[in-house]
Amino acid sequence: MKIEEVKSTTKTQRIASHSHIKGIGLDENGYAIQSAAGLVGQELAREAAGIVVELIRSKKMAGRAVLLAGPPGTGKTALALAIAQELGSKVPFCPMVGSEVYSTEIKKTEVLMENFRRAIGLRIKETKEVYEGEVTELTPCETENPMGGYGKTVSHVVIGLKTAKGTKQLKLDPSIYESLQKEKVEVGDVIYIESNSGAVKRQGRSDTFATEFDLEAEEYVPLPKGDVHKKKEVIQDVTLHDLDIANARPQGGQDIMSMMGQLMKPKKTEITDKLRKEINKVVNKYIDQGIAELVPGVLFIDEVHMLDIECFTYLHRALESTIAPIVIFATNRGKCLIRGTEDIISAHGMPLDLLDRIMIIRTLPYSQEEMTQILKIRAETENIEICEESLQQLGAIGTKTTLRYAVQLLTPSNLLAKINGKEGISKEEIEEMSELFYDAKQSAKILAEQGDKFLK
Ligand SMILES: Nc1ncnc2c1ncn2[C@@H]1O[C@H](COP(=O)(O)OP(=O)(O)O)[C@@H](O)[C@H]1O
Ligand SMILES: [Mg+2]
Repeated sequence: MKIEEVKSTTKTQRIASHSHIKGIGLDENGYAIQSAAGLVGQELAREAAGIVVELIRSKKMAGRAVLLAGPPGTGKTALALAIAQELGSKVPFCPMVGSEVYSTEIKKTEVLMENFRRAIGLRIKETKEVYEGEVTELTPCETENPMGGYGKTVSHVVIGLKTAKGTKQLKLDPSIYESLQKEKVEVGDVIYIESNSGAVKRQGRSDTFATEFDLEAEEYVPLPKGDVHKKKEVIQDVTLHDLDIANARPQGGQDIMSMMGQLMKPKKTEITDKLRKEINKVVNKYIDQGIAELVPGVLFIDEVHMLDIECFTYLHRALESTIAPIVIFATNRGKCLIRGTEDIISAHGMPLDLLDRIMIIRTLPYSQEEMTQILKIRAETENIEICEESLQQLGAIGTKTTLRYAVQLLTPSNLLAKINGKEGISKEEIEEMSELFYDAKQSAKILAEQGDKFLK
């Protein structure tokens, strides 16, 4: 199984409007602080979410499911993302929307399976022989192209590595030079090179350079201790999907097969069930040997009522397998038809037997005061100036429509304020924008009144 070249494939979309959320905002006893970590109100749901986080951390949640149920704009998606924030970046979190399963190219269950595996992490600990240190020199040595013609090729690269204990100069293959370039390694970086595979890992910039620049998005690491050439415990966090991808695609360059390499034949181009089974087998072996540890993450399925009965059946079974993530569903539907059935009406459009094993967290509508608070946080996050009075007004609009609608009015109102030559949003802009854009309820009302004028 290939591990070295595994690249993370974490999905990062769909969070722009939730960028103010940094966590659940509980106190040390697990009670919700009215406004903390970007979240406001919704105390009971937040406390329940806090317990879910605890269960996930203590690994008591794998194969279980939670449903966030509540009207539109009550913070279901926000809460799911807050859970992800609390779990931190080492626990995989894979968000998807129910309707994603409907694609003309991929089977529904295939989409679900892929996302399932994006939500299951594997922490691999290996002791590897490495060359580690701060790069003191990086010189590619060129020779005339042996095939004749013009141009030169890199014949080898000379690299100097420094630790607290000493310095070593290495002469490396051109293939490693490619890896060094891929990792954008420069003099002054701390790196290690695996001696077996030649894989290069850049750990960060040596902290002796920390004062050289102003605060940048750069990670500074201390000068490594010990010898340059040594055994090192290397920890890698990957998801099962990362492993699927790495082993499915034949890749050029550093084609490293690790211990289990023989299992997988090269030149596979597709993730098949067979490949997944083989990967699971290797993963289980790693776990038994104590090399790897399973890190069940979170699969978040928003708008779950969009799934159909086939998907639900599949999910139910998948939840029962030994390797399963925690699944968090969200829906704003009450009783409705289960998709893919003729006449089965069920709560949240989900089959009863699945509902039966789910813990349900309710989200309730916000008060006007809470909406105003949330709108204020959003305005601050988006760097929008808005006066107290306008915030109140927007909060009032929120209670009549939805919070999401009110939040969405912020950006165009700000734009209009700019056009009007103002510092920030005032009553005028909000009035104009709420007349220009309809919320779902208004729009439905107009459709009902003037239905005959629309194409059917
Ligand atoms: N309790 C809350 N605190 C802060 N922001 C919130 C809260 N609830 C919702 N929001 C924000 O309001 C908007 C709408 O909420 P959202 O989570 O999309 O609702 P839902 O998924 O229930 O329809 C989002 O921008 C979200 O981040
Ligand atoms: Mg939502």
